Amino acid sequence: MDDTLAGLLAVEAEAMRRLEGATAAAAIEALEREVLGNASALAEARRGLRALPEGARREAGRAINEIAARLAERLAERRFLVAAAEEASRLDAERLDITLPGRGVRPGAAHLVMQVLEEVTDVFVALGYTVADGPEVETAFYNFDALNTPPTHPARLESDTLYVVHGPDPEGVLLRTQTSPVQARYMEQHPPPVYIVSPGRVFRRDTTDATHTPVFHQMEGLAVDAGVTFADLKGTLAHFAREFFGPGQRVRFVPHFFPFTEPSAEMLTSCFSCEGGGCRVCGGSGWIELLGCGMVDPNVFEAVGYDPASVSGFAFGVGVDRLAMIRYGVPELRFFFDPDLRVLEQYR
Ligand code: DAH
Repeated sequence: MDDTLAGLLAVEAEAMRRLEGATAAAAIEALEREVLGNASALAEARRGLRALPEGARREAGRAINEIAARLAERLAERRFLVAAAEEASRLDAERLDITLPGRGVRPGAAHLVMQVLEEVTDVFVALGYTVADGPEVETAFYNFDALNTPPTHPARLESDTLYVVHGPDPEGVLLRTQTSPVQARYMEQHPPPVYIVSPGRVFRRDTTDATHTPVFHQMEGLAVDAGVTFADLKGTLAHFAREFFGPGQRVRFVPHFFPFTEPSAEMLTSCFSCEGGGCRVCGGSGWIELLGCGMVDPNVFEAVGYDPASVSGFAFGVGVDRLAMIRYGVPELRFFFDPDLRVLEQYR
């Protein structure tokens, strides 16, 4: 039995040495099976105890148990250390560095012209107007003829209007030069009363400069009912100027000419920047030209099948980009059409 015990002590020493270097839980488990399992030298020695006489058996049994207990203790200790080290390195690997700047999502924003377009539309929607739409590629009939514009009118020239098909009038096809054709299209389809606004893109054969671009935006308005007067036009458009520029705005109407309205006027509003004193915004006059307007010409009513004896109405057309330029002090119209975010982002 002494030989056996000596052998077990050697197994213990060897196991202790191997445990020192063990860094993986699996290796420790394998070692445990090897030295304490059923097939181990220890188990074998225990089985051999039965053959010993009583006194020697007890002594040898105690010695075997002591070896087994020391081994079990060291195995448990090592297992704990390795598990702690494994957890520490896993935590390290999974660490989230919250001091790194995030990859932010940059929210987009509506273009300033679209913001203004919606705001202007809202002023009229609040008055009970509805929004009507029309095509950007339009016929000469709706862009000009239905709007009482004679074949000789200079706006119809190729030097002013971008034609898709410069066919014989009124069949020519063009990029609409104004939102006014929506008036005619809408009235053809709907009986009076009519209260509509129609914002959208328009096109002209203009060379780009500070106040001209070949594409820009307008909003058309049309009110047709029994007994609509110029007083309604003035009240409605003055309300619009005050909603958009501020409650103190004064407005002024000066005679003008548009083929589709009679009488026609241009509406000016007091300069919100200098309040009449004269400044860069208004060019020194104290007044800003805002829009064209007038009472719908009876010829327009006839062209769409309305009876000019039983209805009357007013119409107006306002440049949306121009409104944005005036209110936000944008010096160049072309800024709105340049895809330069450094410029556009200033007007988010
Ligand atoms: N269509 C005109 C333009 O582009 C603006 C305009 C003036 C529209 C008078 C109207 C109006 O409806 O009555 O210059």
